Amino acid sequence: MAKSKTVWYCKSCGAESLKWMGMCPSCGEWNTMVEAPAPAKNAGGGACHSLPSGGIPPMLLSEVDASGESRFSLHSDELDRLLGGGIVKGSIILLGGEPGIGKSTLSLQIPLHCEGLKTLYVSGEESVNQVKLRAGRLGGSGDSCYIYSETLIENILSEARKINPDLLIVDSIQTVYSEGLESSPGTVGQIRECAARFLRYAKESGTPVILIGHITKDGMIAGPKVLEHIVDVVLQFEGDNSGAYRILRGIKNRFGATSEIAVYEMTSGGLKEVSNPSDMLIPMHGEPLSGIAVSAMLDGTRPFLIETQALVSSAAYGTPQRSATGFDVRRMNMLLAVLEKRAGFRLGVKDVFLNMAGGLRVNDPACDLAVISAVLSSNFDVPISSHVCFCGEVGLSGEIRPVSQTDRMISEASRIGFERIFISSFTSLPDMFSHKGIEIVKISDVPQLCRSLF
Ligand code: TYD
Ligand code: MG
Repeated sequence: MAKSKTVWYCKSCGAESLKWMGMCPSCGEWNTMVEAPAPAKNAGGGACHSLPSGGIPPMLLSEVDASGESRFSLHSDELDRLLGGGIVKGSIILLGGEPGIGKSTLSLQIPLHCEGLKTLYVSGEESVNQVKLRAGRLGGSGDSCYIYSETLIENILSEARKINPDLLIVDSIQTVYSEGLESSPGTVGQIRECAARFLRYAKESGTPVILIGHITKDGMIAGPKVLEHIVDVVLQFEGDNSGAYRILRGIKNRFGATSEIAVYEMTSGGLKEVSNPSDMLIPMHGEPLSGIAVSAMLDGTRPFLIETQALVSSAAYGTPQRSATGFDVRRMNMLLAVLEKRAGFRLGVKDVFLNMAGGLRVNDPACDLAVISAVLSSNFDVPISSHVCFCGEVGLSGEIRPVSQTDRMISEASRIGFERIFISSFTSLPDMFSHKGIEIVKISDVPQLCRSLF
């Protein structure tokens, strides 16, 4: 069979095909196939992401010696927890996120805050001087951190083998290229090839490698999605570039739970860990204001409380405006329709604006109850007491549905000092659950919520 010179890759899932197809047969996405030169046979891996066996014959699992220290701490409680208790030697981690969100800042902070951790920081985007300037703002010594501004993978790996660092950071995988391939840096073929080479380096040397990857909104450049099945851990930065808070979320983790998140605040001195996110996201004003309700929700495995703000005003134009920041606008429209149909509020002639505090994006249905309470509070211009919080999902017929792990959210609300929490009357709390110091109000539908609040 004649060997084809180019192959087609799916930008979304990384599937490979010998010919162009409108729909990717593997993930079902349309218009995602891009052409790339076929990897050269001797290019050191190509489509093969398998590990070298090192000449070890098959052995019994019980005989494998795994007693050696395989993890080490990055001197950051949040990052260590996210990784499942420190970084695993020989693992490869992909740190993804939109441009400007703080990927370079976070990855440079690691060596600066870990005294004595020999790190090779490869920057393909910034010069050595620019990295130095950034490091100056972040503090820390940098005595054990080598900076290398290079994009050719052959050079990067040969320097890495000479220096033999404890940690290799590559900023970013999109800028790295291999001489063995004709395509330009950032194409799917180059990204896959380079990631496979870093994987082999990580497994052979036992050095953990952090790869930084950009996600573009339109997905024009090969996104890190194609890498997700190659790497061991995928961490993704989320949040609003203009807001101060950033969430780092574990999307895939071969060595720990994926539902973990870490919250950071971007300051003039770099990213600071926020160990108690609730304390920062709830109202600080003394007097309660109308249109504000606090929601107890779960992000990952961690319960926290967040302020929900709504503004309801008469529509100035024929079509009412609906806008939501940090919340799904379609879900907000659904909640407004429920209020209109099941509880008789005439919101169809009103503009409604919704905002989640701190620039965070939430997608837990447990926020529904706080969203409708904030909307009603703004609509009536009646404030809700700042000692009250909400936790519940709203169904299409206006019923308040229970959410999982409500008991943990009640405990968190009580810890912060809330005096009353509204939950669904269908919630079943554990028998021995003690909720000392907080009153639980159980409600079953929207009209009952209005009666108890206003
Ligand atoms: P950066 O880490 O360069 O983002 P990425 O690598 O994900 O593209 O961070 C970019 C933003 O962070 C930039 O808008 C400036 C801001 N920033 C601070 O606010 N404080 C700081 O100390 C640093 C280094 C950056
Ligand atoms: Mg960067």
